[in-house]
Amino acid sequence: MKRIVSVFLMAALLLSFSKLDAQQTNDAKMKTFIDALMKKMTLDEKIGQLNLPGSGDIVTGQAQSSDIGKKIREGKVGGLFNIKSVAKIKDVQRVAVEESRLKIPLIFGMDVIHGYETVFPIPLGLSCTWDMKLVENSARIAAVEASADGINWTFSPMVDICRDPRWGRIAEGSGEDAYLGSQISAAMVKGYQGNDLKANNTIMSCVKHYALYGAAEAGRDYGTTDMSRQRMYNDYFPPYKAAVDAGVGSVMASFNEVDGVPATANKWLMTDVLRKQWGFKGFVVTDYTGINEMIDHGFGDEQTVSAKALMAGIDMDMVGEGILKNTQKSLKEGKVTLAQIDAACRRILEAKYKLGLFDDPYKYCNENRAKTEIFTTAHRKEARSTAAQSFVLLKNQGNVLPLKKNGTIALIGPLADNKQNMPGTWSVAANFENATSVLKGLQETVGDRVTILHARGSNLDEDSLFEERAGMFGKSLRRDSRPASVILQEALDIANRADVIVAALGESSEMSGESSSRSDIEIPQLQQDLLKALLKTGKPVVLVLFTGRPLALKWENDNVPAILNVWFGGSEAGYAIADVLFGDVNPSGKLSTTFPQNVGQVPLFYNHKNTGRPLGEGQWFSKFRSNYLDVSNEPVYPFGFGLSYTSFSYSDIKLSSTSLKGNQTLTASVTVTNSGKYDGKEVVQLYIRDLVGSVTRPVKELKGFQKIELKAGESKTISFTITPNDLKFYNYDLKFDWEPGEFQIMIGGNSRDVKMGKVNWTK
Ligand code: BGC
Repeated sequence: MKRIVSVFLMAALLLSFSKLDAQQTNDAKMKTFIDALMKKMTLDEKIGQLNLPGSGDIVTGQAQSSDIGKKIREGKVGGLFNIKSVAKIKDVQRVAVEESRLKIPLIFGMDVIHGYETVFPIPLGLSCTWDMKLVENSARIAAVEASADGINWTFSPMVDICRDPRWGRIAEGSGEDAYLGSQISAAMVKGYQGNDLKANNTIMSCVKHYALYGAAEAGRDYGTTDMSRQRMYNDYFPPYKAAVDAGVGSVMASFNEVDGVPATANKWLMTDVLRKQWGFKGFVVTDYTGINEMIDHGFGDEQTVSAKALMAGIDMDMVGEGILKNTQKSLKEGKVTLAQIDAACRRILEAKYKLGLFDDPYKYCNENRAKTEIFTTAHRKEARSTAAQSFVLLKNQGNVLPLKKNGTIALIGPLADNKQNMPGTWSVAANFENATSVLKGLQETVGDRVTILHARGSNLDEDSLFEERAGMFGKSLRRDSRPASVILQEALDIANRADVIVAALGESSEMSGESSSRSDIEIPQLQQDLLKALLKTGKPVVLVLFTGRPLALKWENDNVPAILNVWFGGSEAGYAIADVLFGDVNPSGKLSTTFPQNVGQVPLFYNHKNTGRPLGEGQWFSKFRSNYLDVSNEPVYPFGFGLSYTSFSYSDIKLSSTSLKGNQTLTASVTVTNSGKYDGKEVVQLYIRDLVGSVTRPVKELKGFQKIELKAGESKTISFTITPNDLKFYNYDLKFDWEPGEFQIMIGGNSRDVKMGKVNWTK
């Protein structure tokens, strides 16, 4: 036996050595190739590689005569982005490789954020699956489709930690937690890039927005960020670092400032942390006009900010062309160095080399793949099942859900019959005509057995101008111009004829996403009024809630019997909603963000510090304690929360030891029982609290989770292995280490309801 093990070990060792060897040979080959190419490049051509202009709307067949065509021919473009279709991409690539002096291919980027034409749930929804295989698979499918359509670089994953639901871009990330966010970040990078970037169905990933973009003051987009290094390193940096550790090919700078210096020109961020501390080897691109925007930040004129960005470690300038226009002059005046220009140019060329574009610049331009690998039945099936698993059941009083597959349903709400709003924000490549509305999803799934009545019930909001702003990019809800009372009465009429009411309400998809911050995070008043009127009918009401952010749902939680949060589930969401409503899929999503009672509690997050005057157990107000006069400190729904059609009970926690030393290993386990009537999935979550630290530590931190499946009545013992690595944090000197002492070990089905044990761990 021992011999077999050692033979295996030897083989594994040899394999990793040969992998290392192959990597070194590849790197050497790449260096030789790029050295030779750069020797031929003029300064202008080197600077040209750093330019990522806005492509406008390139019309097929006209690339040559366009302004972009001219620049490409002159070697002044490194890549283009958000151009859709093989025909258009081939057209511009042809100009680059046939008509420019050095024939350097372009890189083609796109915001493939949550799927391509097959659209998966918005990232915030996807994160609620807590299923890394699903997450990786969604990125894999997105990469297959995007690469089949000419794209080789995606501006994803977006991993900005956010604790402020006013910020609209919370929809694009994975919520409030660094641990979960890091797992997702790595899984997405793996999904996009696969094991081999040279394959024609993998694409380069770009983690964004580095850094701290999700911590904008007051949740207003592009706002200032100001935080301690402690918080950066412990709570906000880990998902970016996880992407770097997973081998992400590129990084996008964020719009906000960090420590008073815009991220785009922040050398500490771009070079000291990213490259020196984390060992990042790829290239850094700015965000859209990120360089020019520093003029408004008050950081200098165009030449100054362009030079500062380059010298800070930016390699590619998105849209603004500040680097293209000013770098020659800055070099002459000693504001930038040739070494820095060379380094940036080399990194862009390396990315193209790694993608195999020098071998075949058209390798992603295969019309046949475009016809057969996009929006396929197989991909749609995955998207449907992923969407169903992203939904979070927030309430299910009296088991209103699942619905019976008979009788009459009144489907009511401004979001009930709209395709355009299903894919969600940032679905650049989606064909909205291909999306399925809730109405169509229900009709196609159960329409032969269930009578489905439908009415709008209300517009999105009373204010038509607000509704316009919340329906941009072709996502209008087609406002009904009839008086509100008439629209409501029509709905009440069908509601009275139904056995159950399904109310499809909430936000439109453009109420979250970029530049879609809100100061009020409730369901718009007009829809709340509709909901109240529907409840008054006395019929059971199921709220199917669309949202791109945590909403303040105190009233709804107190009054509506069933709430299913469906986020924006993607092109197949209509079917997925039917699957869950009728119990073909048992919901298993768990929140990746805290849902506050009201906007005044924001930022409210589970892994907060304790303060010197915490409230006592069970108290909600006590004078001279840390609390509010008008609301308790509790959220409506805590981080990690989500119900199922079945129920799970947890045994007390069992610890392998309560006293540990050094590198020993602790096993913490619970027995989880499916105590209900349905088979179901549960996310078992491990939290740890470090009771005393050289800097104060959060009241709990997620340190592990396992998504398990249990048949009705079945029990399983779930164990977590804990080592000192799980106790590490960045201390006052930003050293990542653990400190001996007492630790609470907690396991549960959400961050609030946990079973607890305690250990003492000495060094
Ligand atoms: C966004 C980025 C996006 C870029 C390119 C910017 O406005 O902040 O997330 O990748 O546009 O479309």
